Amino acid sequence: MYNSKIIGLGHYVPENVVTNDDLSKVMETNDAWIQERTGIKERRHVVKGDGDTTTTMGVKAAKIAIERAGIDKDDIDFIVFATLSPDYYFPGPGVLVQRDLGIKTVGALDVRNQCSGFVYAISIADQYIKTGMYKNVLVIGSELHSHGLDMTTRGRGVSVIFGDGAGAAVLTREEDTTKGILSTHLHSEGQHAEELSLIAPGMGNRWVTDIMEDNDPNDESYYPHMNGQFVFKNAVVRFSEVIVEGLEKNKLNATDIDLLVPHQANLRISQFIQKKFQLSDDQVFNNIMKYGNTTAASIPIALTEAWEEGKVKSGDLVVLAAFGSGFTWGSVIIRW
Ligand code: UT7
Repeated sequence: MYNSKIIGLGHYVPENVVTNDDLSKVMETNDAWIQERTGIKERRHVVKGDGDTTTTMGVKAAKIAIERAGIDKDDIDFIVFATLSPDYYFPGPGVLVQRDLGIKTVGALDVRNQCSGFVYAISIADQYIKTGMYKNVLVIGSELHSHGLDMTTRGRGVSVIFGDGAGAAVLTREEDTTKGILSTHLHSEGQHAEELSLIAPGMGNRWVTDIMEDNDPNDESYYPHMNGQFVFKNAVVRFSEVIVEGLEKNKLNATDIDLLVPHQANLRISQFIQKKFQLSDDQVFNNIMKYGNTTAASIPIALTEAWEEGKVKSGDLVVLAAFGSGFTWGSVIIRW
């Protein structure tokens, strides 16, 4: 058995900055409400027609990660792509990355675990590397939310939160099993599936033709729905549980954490976790202020920025944790 370790990180966000004041011009909201409730100051939105998609952003992030990993694209043995906003209903973006990067015909897997998508994707990559089946795995989290949001007052509880962007990581084999990814922990609770969901179009529900036939101006089923307070309450509990689970598995304490990179759901959630584990500002990385919630892309974007800022050093204990739609949640414990 081997461990896996991250040897390259990259991120890409579209250039177009959308501030809270920009949003207040198209819906009833304001900078004070958004900052107070979420910590978000601005986010990036792809401008329609600019050519950026979930896949192209993922490819841009992946190219940086591969270059920093110091490997050739043809050394990649497997691709794992996490998103809730794929370019096509099918096929998923994994194969589009294989095509666009010109990688040989390796396997490409799409992960649909929303805000926990990157944590799930890392866990999958880790298992393949641990068993020796693959040596180098490319993991991408990318989202293009902005084209699918209800940008009216009706949708403000959701649409002010989400932003576009992508992050990527290259994982490789580590022979020293005291280093790299020490463990991953995944959970789900489908009982609350609809509390944070986008239910149409869906084959088991309403298909595109049904939506067109109904032509109902009050139809909200093709916009994301979030029971914000319920999600918030579950998030703080599950984030805490899954971090403790990861630490206990490795006989570690919260005081051992050098850097916690939480999924950027809401600054208030991160601050709650920080306080609960009595971590200093230096021990928790947040960038939701700049990018909003980028779902599967949020952890790899944050981890890349933390690494670029020198906040992730060899030997550090780095903890990734996520919670989101499904509900799904998980953590990754890394000895960098
Ligand atoms: O990443 C996946 C996991 N997602 C999360 O973890 C998100 C968890 N939830 C949250 O972050 C918060 O619940 C929100 C930020 C979504 C909402 O904050 P909240 O403090 O729970 O506000 P609320 O939904 O209870 O709304 C409070 C008030 C309402 O008005 P009334 O009924 O009190 O008159 C809303 O209509 O704020 C109103 N409101 C807004 N006002 C201005 C909702 N959205 C907005 C807005 N601007 N954008």
